[in-house]
Amino acid sequence: MPSRPAGARPGAKAPTLRGPFDPGGQPQLTIDNHLHISLFAWNVSSGLSASKAVLSDVERHRDFWKWPTASKLMRAVEEAGFDSQLQYGMWSGYGGDTGWNDAGLDFATAATASAAVTERIGIYSTIHVGYNISPLLIAKVFSDIDHISGGRLGVNVVAGQNAVDYAQFGLVGPPSQEIRYAIADEMTTALKLLWTSDEPVDFEGEYFQMYGARINPRATSRPRPLLICAAASDIGLDYATRQCDALFVTADDNTVDGYRKKAARIHGMAAEHGRQVRIAAMCYVVMDDTDAKALETVEWMRGQIDRGAIETWLTRSGHILNSEARTVSDEVVGDARVSSGATQDPYLGIGKEHYEGLGMGMGAYQLFGSYETVADQLIALYEAGVGQFALSFFDPQRGVQQMRDHVLPILRERGYNQIQV
Ligand SMILES: Cc1cc2nc3c(=O)[nH]c(=O)nc-3n(C[C@H](O)[C@H](O)[C@H](O)COP(=O)(O)O)c2cc1C
Repeated sequence: MPSRPAGARPGAKAPTLRGPFDPGGQPQLTIDNHLHISLFAWNVSSGLSASKAVLSDVERHRDFWKWPTASKLMRAVEEAGFDSQLQYGMWSGYGGDTGWNDAGLDFATAATASAAVTERIGIYSTIHVGYNISPLLIAKVFSDIDHISGGRLGVNVVAGQNAVDYAQFGLVGPPSQEIRYAIADEMTTALKLLWTSDEPVDFEGEYFQMYGARINPRATSRPRPLLICAAASDIGLDYATRQCDALFVTADDNTVDGYRKKAARIHGMAAEHGRQVRIAAMCYVVMDDTDAKALETVEWMRGQIDRGAIETWLTRSGHILNSEARTVSDEVVGDARVSSGATQDPYLGIGKEHYEGLGMGMGAYQLFGSYETVADQLIALYEAGVGQFALSFFDPQRGVQQMRDHVLPILRERGYNQIQV
């Protein structure tokens, strides 16, 4: 264990190294009858669409993350009445014929730039912990973005599980789930301390050490920026309910009732620590004037799922692909692949529904249909306990317009989202 360096300025000992830790309390989480709507994954190529349909118009469907297109998108999101933009944290991408998520804007640049071109929406960034990035640097960069945005920052904490990314940072990984979330726990405590302390602090954790550490300006948000987490495992959920404020959940059966049960369980876990949380859902949206028209687009996209990209996603997320499912004569060495093109199982051994669900939304809850259908489903999820919706679209520019012109007016007509937050 390192010791206090001789040159360090005096610092107050950190009151704790792990959560629950909420100096000054938690940020405000909910507003009555208000569905918090976020635009998700706008900062990476193709967002949540792993379909070769994106190649039909790459500027609209794949490269929307590029500035100045994304700058216009951010302004449109604000004007449409969304509550926040939520970035996808990605360092490597999944390749395939479409180059799924292969390019994009990083956690700091995307957040700073979007803060500068908007005035009201929440600026929610995503940071990976576990890559040996110092909490001082992360706290400082985010505090400055919070300053520039006038206190609109939120941070999604990801306990990285991608071996390729650990290797990019010169590390062997991923570590065990216990260690991933122990690192996240220490990092989160350190961020909260730095964001809220006037005085220099000493933090002697197992994974991070800081001596006489202080940032100026401190976070602008009061009591501190909102913390988000999308953990799915029990260990991850334990961390998230102790330390974070908005939790992305996925229901095992992807039904409204499944979300209701999951939300109740997570509220219970948070309550054990005297905390409250907002439940959030990731949704992939294809909508149109009628159900039939939307489903036509869905079918067209489904027919062109980017198999190579899905295969990489599955391996990187820790799914072991059984060799029967692989493309015949595939040799996977790192990211290099030699393929004969013939297939044994078109769905890579995970079944049609799961395969298509990954291609059309990375496993998100699917909102496919007319504007009325989409509004009905959003309301049903909200009434089941989901407070925030991270929406991702095949065509984000059109999707944001459709929300503005059709879905948000329906929500207002039905008594929701009466005030703009
Ligand atoms: C809505 C949502 C957003 C996510 N965002 C990211 C992200 O931006 N970057 C990332 O590497 N992982 C992301 N993840 C993955 C989660 O952080 C997490 O690693 C995953 O759900 C597995 O949970 P576990 O770590 O508890 O096993 C996201 C997951 C969901 C459901």
